[in-house]
Amino acid sequence: MANVVLIGTQWGDEGKGKIVDLLTEWAGVVVRFQGGNNAGHTLVIEGRRYALHLIPSGIMRPGKVCVIGSGVVVDLKILLDEIQLLRQESGREIISQLVLSDEAHLILESHRRLDQARERQRGSAKIGTTGRGIGPAYESKMARWGLRLGDLLAPEEVLYKRLSALLEQHNLLLQKIYGEEPVAVDAVFGELKEAAAQLGPAIRKIPYAMAGYLEAGEAILFEGAQGTLLDIDHGTYPFVTSSSTLAANACASAGVGMKHVNEVVGVVKAYTTRVGSGPFPVELDDAVGEHLRQQGGEFGTTTGRPRRCGWLDLVALRYAVMLNGLDSFALTKLDVLSGLETIKVCEGYRLDGRVIDYFPSSIEELEACEPVLVEFPGWQEDISAVLEYDELPENARRYIAYVEEKLGIPAMLISVGPDRAQTILKYNPFQA
Ligand code: IMP
Repeated sequence: MANVVLIGTQWGDEGKGKIVDLLTEWAGVVVRFQGGNNAGHTLVIEGRRYALHLIPSGIMRPGKVCVIGSGVVVDLKILLDEIQLLRQESGREIISQLVLSDEAHLILESHRRLDQARERQRGSAKIGTTGRGIGPAYESKMARWGLRLGDLLAPEEVLYKRLSALLEQHNLLLQKIYGEEPVAVDAVFGELKEAAAQLGPAIRKIPYAMAGYLEAGEAILFEGAQGTLLDIDHGTYPFVTSSSTLAANACASAGVGMKHVNEVVGVVKAYTTRVGSGPFPVELDDAVGEHLRQQGGEFGTTTGRPRRCGWLDLVALRYAVMLNGLDSFALTKLDVLSGLETIKVCEGYRLDGRVIDYFPSSIEELEACEPVLVEFPGWQEDISAVLEYDELPENARRYIAYVEEKLGIPAMLISVGPDRAQTILKYNPFQA
């Protein structure tokens, strides 16, 4: 069986949750490899909506193993709440489907408080983070005083000592720099002990577990969160998230060699959105932007914030094809474009009087870029019930063929609505 990495090609919110859910049918194991509960997957199954932030959406299918890799940052309260919710919804004891990396770092109360305090201090220059403590948790990891899931299994006095050392640092920052109340060690310690009792059996050393799945011939789906342009290295720094969102990180986080990946799929929304601050060359502040926001339901799953909307950006997408080594793409939300007289696509950026085709590293340069737009005739038909590619309106097929040609890779599926069933599957990457 093949192993597939699936990542977002834009600024997140491409509709990865639904695609992951679909592809999970062919995978035995689903691995979440970076980010934390800043992500949000909305799944619609038989008309019911589910929002998950941390647990891979594959959990909805009985028998599938869901792995949280070492590159993920875990807020224990969110994890336990999701386990509880899923237990209620499914009537199953879903913890038996979960495998948690002992090397994944924890998000504590102090990380959340620092995230919010820093955003307040930045004022109008804020990043627009989700306020979930993601950045500070990765900071603790890199500074090498973070707490990991495996620490929950350590003798109590060891855990207490590690926690105290971390909170001592955080409380100094909170009190002396941000003028905030300190976080009480004993309260956090109590929460950690409670979590340890519930999660203990699911905490494992992931590379060995992964080697076992590979040995057994299980098909593995690696599920990215956020998107390529929010990547800490190659995204629109500093308006990015604090992890590596690229396909290459799937292997690093899971402790699996790269030779085991057979196909890399990028999820491409048929237009572009962004939440939070930062440059966005294709942004539309007009009726079309509003059409996309309303028709596409472009409001954050995690924070409820309205998303900024714009046309499809081929400069950014070609960059994503290159950074991730994409083999194919899944085109989502094509139905949202129905009803527009004209559809535009950004083919290049105009910067200082010349046209460039690369994605600049400097946000000042990117902010100065004007999109060079080409126009397509739209289609008026409702396509949300179309199941065959050939039944799409001719202008919709022309749009897809154009994107395929410009990106140099084929669309493996086209999504025309939020439900599992509203999908045109062109080929199955697990059988490619
Ligand atoms: P953080 O990840 O909470 O630190 O937020 C950093 C930036 O990434 C902000 O602009 C967020 O809006 C954005 N971001 C984080 N997670 C997501 C996501 O899942 N979808 C879209 N944007 C996200």
